[in-house]
Amino acid sequence: MSIMKRKQRHIRVSLEENVESDIPTGFGDVSLVHRAIPEIDLKDVDASTELFGKKLSAPLIISAITGGTEEAEKINKTLATVAGRLGIGIGVGSQRIAIQQPEVERTFRVVRSAAPKALVIGNIGCPQLSLGWGIKEARKAVEMVDADALAIHMNPLQEAVQVGGDTNFKGIVKKIKALTADLGVPVVMKETGAGISFEDARRLEGAGAAGFEISGLGGTSWSAVEHHIAHEVGDGQMEYLGKVLWNWGIPTACSLVEVRSASKGKVIASGGLRNGLDAAKALALGADAVGIAKPFLQKAIKGEEDLEKYIETIIAEIRICLFLSGAKNLSEINKVPVVVTGWSAEWLKARGFDPAHYATRGR
Ligand SMILES: Cc1cc2nc3c(=O)[nH]c(=O)nc-3n(C[C@H](O)[C@H](O)[C@H](O)COP(=O)(O)O)c2cc1C
Repeated sequence: MSIMKRKQRHIRVSLEENVESDIPTGFGDVSLVHRAIPEIDLKDVDASTELFGKKLSAPLIISAITGGTEEAEKINKTLATVAGRLGIGIGVGSQRIAIQQPEVERTFRVVRSAAPKALVIGNIGCPQLSLGWGIKEARKAVEMVDADALAIHMNPLQEAVQVGGDTNFKGIVKKIKALTADLGVPVVMKETGAGISFEDARRLEGAGAAGFEISGLGGTSWSAVEHHIAHEVGDGQMEYLGKVLWNWGIPTACSLVEVRSASKGKVIASGGLRNGLDAAKALALGADAVGIAKPFLQKAIKGEEDLEKYIETIIAEIRICLFLSGAKNLSEINKVPVVVTGWSAEWLKARGFDPAHYATRGR
């Protein structure tokens, strides 16, 4: 199947089929402690921040979605226009297609022209590094959108259950090390729906990664997407595998604690975040910003107005949650007490982290 056809299918399948994980993000196990006397005026709550050298009005990123087709160009234009207007960040979808077929570069470049001042994150994948890509292609991806940072997506689950997937992830850390040394913009190691462990975050930070995008389990499942695509192309074995591994991964809230504990770098929490309450919980657990993909795609298809309203609502929710937690800004939400219970607490304890540490801090 051509990459262009695959891109079209990703959008259509994500919009029309059930591709959500059945296992939750873990944020349902996370509570911020209510402050009856926040001693703040909600009007004074400041959710702005800075990430990779750019100011954000709120700690929100449109996670990598698309590029490469006419439809993708339209979607990217809508996403970028709204991101620019509201002062949030935007990641482009995998730029592999434009590096191989320069005639579709415009479907990515539209992001920078629609949002000249926004934080823009470029995107290439580990499978391409395995197939021989290096600094030249990474520079091209950065130049194409004048990227402030480059995400390198890690999608071993998707590749393993994809008809004709590229499953060679050998020697990736060494390749990342070579890239981070020479690229000149920060490299963000990004999962795509199965999360990042403490161990991998440590190794990647050692290889020079400046940040991570969690994309944990709990939202869009790429095993589910590939399950549907395998069904359409009549590959029964991959269809079956995609179903079995539908819920594979580290739930987002747990992965966030793992990565935050492993790294001093920037952390974008994503994977199943759907509102400002989840976002505020992620910020309290140490995320520098949060990313959302599928819901933004669903709104962008309807138009700028729907997308803008949704993003404004999320930002309002984040500000209210900060207020109710007694935090005036993002550096304060990082220090408020957070209670982690249930399955997520069990996970964290089993992995050697102490959930009680979050519950009593700031006393
Ligand atoms: C249609 C679609 C296309 C995507 N394409 C990419 C991509 O090219 N590169 C990438 O790193 N992630 C890609 N993602 C993954 C998202 O950036 C995100 O990590 C994942 O969907 C989990 O977030 P969500 O639950 O908010 O959707 C894509 C997601 C969707 C829905």
